[in-house]
Amino acid sequence: MRIAVTGATGAVGCEVARALAGESGVRLVVRDVDKAARMGLPGEVHAADYGDVPALERALAGAEALFVVTGNPLRPEHDEHILAAAKAAGVRHAVKISWTAVADPTADDLVARWNRRSEELLRDSGLSWTVLRMRTPMSNALGWAASIRDEGVVRALGGADRTACVDPRDVAAVAVEALHGAEHAGRTYALTGPEPISVREQVEELAGVLQHPIRFEELTEEQAFARWCRRFPDEVARALLQGAQRRAAGASAAVEGTVAAVTGRAPANFARWAADHADRFRAR
Ligand SMILES: NC(=O)c1ccc[n+]([C@@H]2O[C@H](COP(=O)([O-])OP(=O)(O)OC[C@H]3O[C@@H](n4cnc5c(N)ncnc54)[C@H](OP(=O)(O)O)[C@@H]3O)[C@@H](O)[C@H]2O)c1
Repeated sequence: MRIAVTGATGAVGCEVARALAGESGVRLVVRDVDKAARMGLPGEVHAADYGDVPALERALAGAEALFVVTGNPLRPEHDEHILAAAKAAGVRHAVKISWTAVADPTADDLVARWNRRSEELLRDSGLSWTVLRMRTPMSNALGWAASIRDEGVVRALGGADRTACVDPRDVAAVAVEALHGAEHAGRTYALTGPEPISVREQVEELAGVLQHPIRFEELTEEQAFARWCRRFPDEVARALLQGAQRRAAGASAAVEGTVAAVTGRAPANFARWAADHADRFRAR
């Protein structure tokens, strides 16, 4: 099976690339080849921006199965472009990362609507498909790495709110099964980690692994929103706030058994992920 991996420099895409190491004909589709080189990703690297359909067609040429991840809710056409290029290139099966909030009828923010529409595009594309609705990836904790390294502090909204966050390596393991196995065609899977865990508890795990204390500072909604507005367009910042409000109401705590059912092994907990990524949080 010749497989192409879009978003191979992203949180899940890089783990899909690593999980496919050793298989022949794996194509990694990235917009930044230098970043792919710095990450030491295994596989043939092809440059293509999701805005450039001819480049995507060239990058996907010869692939039979495709891992799809897009990252910009203000660019819904990116999924259309990838699917058009995939069809032109002869791809038969696509495995797409989406979000568990898609299934939550109370979730009506920009990011949830974008993921819903992207799923519909895939289901209507004529390709065989599998959708992987992911809960918050544990790798989001890397967003605290700089303040942990520099100040020994994590500042966040909703420190007590629990999320059954998932190790990207487990999402990647399910993706690899779905890329290879016809039995996963037409299936939509919700992927979570094994336990609901709060931000404060994640910070405590990291402090234990790093063997030094980390202070937690709770942000108000106004402070968190202002920080997001500095990094993202306002509509995206509003969606992040709405997601945090749903999390506070318990919407992200449910644990699903899908990782174990598909891969045959239990998903990693946050302690495992933290131990394996400790170096990213250590002062250099
Ligand atoms: N992050 C979360 O908390 C979370 C939670 C649940 C579900 N999800 C879902 O997971 C999916 C991805 O989320 P994310 O943004 O967090 O993923 P991500 O790990 O940042 O991956 C996105 C990938 O797409 C690539 N990319 C973005 N724009 C591109 C473009 N114009 N051309 C080529 N490549 C491009 C990025 O490349 P670069 O590496 O060059 O940036 C990156 O490799 C979304 O459907 C999201 O809703 C995310």
